[in-house]
Amino acid sequence: MSLKGKDFLTLKDFTGQEILDMVNLGIDLKTKLKAGIPTPILAGKSLGMIFQKASTRTRVSFEVGMYQLGGQALFLSSNDLQIGRGEPIQDTARVLSRYLDGILIRTFSHKEVEDLAEYADVPVINGLTDDYHPTQVIADLITIQEHKGHLKGIRFAYVGDGNNMTHSLMIGGAKTGMDVMVACPEGYMPNPEIVAQAKQYAAESGGSVTVIHDPKEAIAGADVVYTDTWASMGQEAEKEIRQKAFQGYQVDSAMMALAKPDAIFMHCLPAYRGYEVTDEVMVSAQWVVFDEAENRLHAHKAILATFL
Ligand code: CP
Ligand code: NVA
Repeated sequence: MSLKGKDFLTLKDFTGQEILDMVNLGIDLKTKLKAGIPTPILAGKSLGMIFQKASTRTRVSFEVGMYQLGGQALFLSSNDLQIGRGEPIQDTARVLSRYLDGILIRTFSHKEVEDLAEYADVPVINGLTDDYHPTQVIADLITIQEHKGHLKGIRFAYVGDGNNMTHSLMIGGAKTGMDVMVACPEGYMPNPEIVAQAKQYAAESGGSVTVIHDPKEAIAGADVVYTDTWASMGQEAEKEIRQKAFQGYQVDSAMMALAKPDAIFMHCLPAYRGYEVTDEVMVSAQWVVFDEAENRLHAHKAILATFL
């Protein structure tokens, strides 16, 4: 069944096969780009991109991706839109739908993205909320596929804050048959409802999802070790408290040594060296981490091609 015209809000809404199709399309578009083969499949189409939080990768890769597909992207800062002065999201959705072929939004509350999607007549893409970051996970799955050759059966370890990345990685990993181990300190665990859903998806795919506190246990024998910032966008005021709470969760060389000898380290970026990861691990892993960042472009083109 075609996903054209649907929204891309969380990976919960897609089957494992649909997620794999996006991954494979991303790899195909990457190969074509490197071979110099043009792919103007969105010629004449426009994507509006509303950002209520900062972004380097998501903004630039969607903008360039849209251009490479023959279309156009408009960066819409919430400071400049009338949303910033109180125009309701419903009216914004209705109006933007009259001009655009798709809307990407990065914001705080996931409910706001759902509201936008409800009132927009064009596909809405979630570019990150406090609860989910699904576009990142398509790029992450492409990266794992490229470096490990498969997704099913991968031992995936996430260590750190139980945040939007944790949620989307658990769902994406579970749906594609990975064995996902998550370790977070008490008080910073992922949302238990999302954990329960991810466990259900894993039961259907033959994978598993395990959430614990001990980072060493999570990393032991892993193929992939993943971490993210301890203080996400919007949590800047909690930085110091969080740095204390996350002692023992830094991914350093000793932690990486517990994983499989050929394990890869991944990070959605931006990375804060000396906190969730050491400079040494970042330097030794840069060939994967920056492939992962590059794959945002290819993943986003696959998402745009699928939904627009
Ligand atoms: N990983 C990621 O989403 O990066 P940006 O915040 O720079 O878009
Ligand atoms: N968890 C981070 C991800 C940044 C891409 C945040 O929400 O700030």
